[in-house]
Amino acid sequence: MDVSFDGVRYTYPGGVEAVKGVTLAIPSGQRFAIVGQNGAGKTTLVRHLNGIFQPTEGTVHVGDWTTTGHTIAELSAKVGYVFQNPDEQLFARRVIDDVAFGPRNLGFDLDRAEALVAAALEQTGLSAEAETHPHHLSLSERKRVALAAVLAMDTPIVVLDEPTTGQDERGVRMIATIVEKLQSEGRTVIAITHDMDFCAENFERTVVMAQGEVLADGAPSEVFIQDAVLEKARVEAPQLARLADALGWASRPLTVDSFVDSLPAHRR
Ligand SMILES: Nc1ncnc2c1ncn2[C@@H]1O[C@H](COP(=O)(O)OP(=O)(O)OP(=O)(O)O)[C@@H](O)[C@H]1O
Ligand SMILES: [Mg+2]
Repeated sequence: MDVSFDGVRYTYPGGVEAVKGVTLAIPSGQRFAIVGQNGAGKTTLVRHLNGIFQPTEGTVHVGDWTTTGHTIAELSAKVGYVFQNPDEQLFARRVIDDVAFGPRNLGFDLDRAEALVAAALEQTGLSAEAETHPHHLSLSERKRVALAAVLAMDTPIVVLDEPTTGQDERGVRMIATIVEKLQSEGRTVIAITHDMDFCAENFERTVVMAQGEVLADGAPSEVFIQDAVLEKARVEAPQLARLADALGWASRPLTVDSFVDSLPAHRR
């Protein structure tokens, strides 16, 4: 399902203009990442997709819907949004109830709902915690509960707000596998991230935001060579790119594979 932002501006009731004219078209099935400094407007922007916010100016399209014509409940069948802070999203006393809430609420039949809940817990490594109170889990586990709760809704669009924050290596790999699986099912994945390695490894398109505006938009290999943009948005290139710079290479490989491919050309 396609998504688009057309001249979107958003001003908070207190007067802060957090999004200042964003136009973006995200085609169905794309792995799309948004990066940028704290307060750049990333969360504010994506919260338009499920109607938490309506644009002060401009329009947001989700498939053939304009978000202003639909309720949060209607949009939640199309857009699953995993909150940056899981404690804003989770409310139940058992992990399984948080994860089962979405599919139940969307009116899925029992068999489908049960299968989705089981698969979501499995994918997020939480099958053994189904009966646990979320408050007894760590923040990184609660973040994965929040992710499972959205996966179980089986939406064509999945929005992840800083999914890897606080995750260890295994958690990051788990999330990368989920992103890959979602795309293989033709679903659109939109992720906000501060982890440039995760971004370069897992997303085919990256947008850089600063102060409510989009500064760059392209493949990670196109975006992470724009030094002026990176500096303005206070974003560092992925580690391997910085290593290549330090070694005096003219090229900037972003992933382990592309770094290894570049090695022969730099052997003296
Ligand atoms: N509820 C709110 N009321 C008023 N201003 C807000 C509110 N939430 C965010 N802002 C302001 O809007 C701007 C954009 O915030 P937003 O949370 O969208 O940024 P972000 O890019 O997601 O940042 P981070 O990387 O820290 O999550 C910031 O200046 C922020 O202070
Ligand atoms: Mg944010």
